[in-house]
Amino acid sequence: MAAPSHDPTSTAAWSALLAHRDATTPDLRGWFDADPGRAERLTMDVADLHVDLSKNLVTDETLALLRDLAEQTGVTDRLQAMFAGEHINVTEDRAVLHTALRRPAGLDPLTVDGQDVDADVQAELAKVYEFARAVRSGEWTGATGQRITTVVNIGIGGSDLGPVMAYEALQAHRQAGLTCRFVSNIDPTDLAETTADLDPASTLFIVASKTFGTLETLTNARLARQWMWDGLAGEIEDSDAGRREAVARHFVAVSTALDKVADFGIDPDNAFGFWDWVGGRYSVDSAIGTSLAVAIGPERFAEFLAGFHAVDEHVRTTPLERNVPLLMGLLNVWYVNFLGAHTHAVLPYSQYLHRFPAYLQQLTMESNGKSVRWDGQPVTCDTGEVFWGEPGTNGQHAFYQLIHQGTRLIPADFVAFATPQHALTDGDTDVHALFMANFFAQTKALAFGKTAEEVRAEGTAEDVVPARVFPGNRPTTSIMAESLTPSVLGQLIALYEHITFAEGAVWGIDSFDQWGVELGKQLALQIAPALTGDDDALQSQDPSTKGLIGWYLAHRA
Ligand code: F6P
Repeated sequence: MAAPSHDPTSTAAWSALLAHRDATTPDLRGWFDADPGRAERLTMDVADLHVDLSKNLVTDETLALLRDLAEQTGVTDRLQAMFAGEHINVTEDRAVLHTALRRPAGLDPLTVDGQDVDADVQAELAKVYEFARAVRSGEWTGATGQRITTVVNIGIGGSDLGPVMAYEALQAHRQAGLTCRFVSNIDPTDLAETTADLDPASTLFIVASKTFGTLETLTNARLARQWMWDGLAGEIEDSDAGRREAVARHFVAVSTALDKVADFGIDPDNAFGFWDWVGGRYSVDSAIGTSLAVAIGPERFAEFLAGFHAVDEHVRTTPLERNVPLLMGLLNVWYVNFLGAHTHAVLPYSQYLHRFPAYLQQLTMESNGKSVRWDGQPVTCDTGEVFWGEPGTNGQHAFYQLIHQGTRLIPADFVAFATPQHALTDGDTDVHALFMANFFAQTKALAFGKTAEEVRAEGTAEDVVPARVFPGNRPTTSIMAESLTPSVLGQLIALYEHITFAEGAVWGIDSFDQWGVELGKQLALQIAPALTGDDDALQSQDPSTKGLIGWYLAHRA
């Protein structure tokens, strides 16, 4: 049965928001002056996250209209449907249950499509934890009996970005003497450089692929297997059995397709599973996070999951007025559809979070980069934003100029932590405090700017006054936590998962499929023979592609 029509632009709230937009001039200075309670009213806590929404370009009326839009587009009903395991991923006819991955043991059982979801999740987690403990303790050794000192995760997209981002973020919590590396790109440079200084005898590979059919991952896994066999030649038995035994000690897999794992030669006993109701970009909290579990240990990984769950409970039970993820999603809709924003910056004031913007790119853009709704109709409004960012303060010296004084509206989320992992001082100066001063200064400058009068008052020559004016009214959200613990990282990820959900629910798009990545994959497979001598494959290309391939063939060494 076709889904009922879902056109957000035909709701009364959408029309009211358009009229409200036309009647409202953003004025953060004026709004703060006139309303001393604004900051306190618009600052909300979700679990351990302290979120200040007050520097956004909204009034109480804007927020009320956005809540009307959420109600008229059924956002909370859809959220409850997701938690209950309904098949809200309509184009793949699947439940969307990443929230089940972090449900603590002992809740009322969740049964979906006949599956006891909680039992399966707990059983798989127990396997991951047992493996993590064995590697960390040295009980798990390589084929020559050496302790494992490096774990290399081979995966791409959701099977890479989550694990690498979380590993980098939680460096301070990893076991000394045990490091993780990550290979994703089919550019052979990636595997070659990543393994260049490694000893195969003490290296363990985790081949992470939901489908176990991804070209990049399987190619890299085969290269890694050959690298391991070559490196251990003379130390392992030179026979099929010897090579199989070496694979068993140096390769484990994570996948929903355990049959394909076995075909690759990895013992199913060394494979960790998950389920089709976990999207790749929502999977870092499944067995896909095994590298992280090894690095930080089962207890810390459990804290990581508990962080997700705390935000799940907030989003599931908190009324819209104080529901931080849903409000942040609605703010994004406001900027995209009513104020014309095309991009959204995420600016972590934490070097540990340097891969967080890249992680969010897949989460948000693969989820909401859609132009057809779940009812099968073309969308009638813009969807999705280009998410991007770099850690502060590096970004300040690179692209903040455009955010402060450019012509584009770029809403930005600033993320920071009160307590650093490294409390260094420069003479008498607390360096983290200096760092935080930058965090506070930037959102203040973006919100309130600097008027021509203020510039003149500094004695600036009149002809350069216009260039030195900061218009302000550049929207930001500040997100703070005490420190970057595993739980807080889980909370941050879940926050953005639910922001992404809220946007997609308003727009009426299936945030959980990703058909847009398929065409390029198909064409790459069709083009590959043209690069290795198949003239028919070459001649069948369009003139531009044929020309480019011809140039490549003529110039490659
Ligand atoms: O091509 C996109 C994609 O399907 C992502 O959604 C996914 O995270 C990635 O490829 C990797 O897929 P897999 O985990 O199946 O190897």
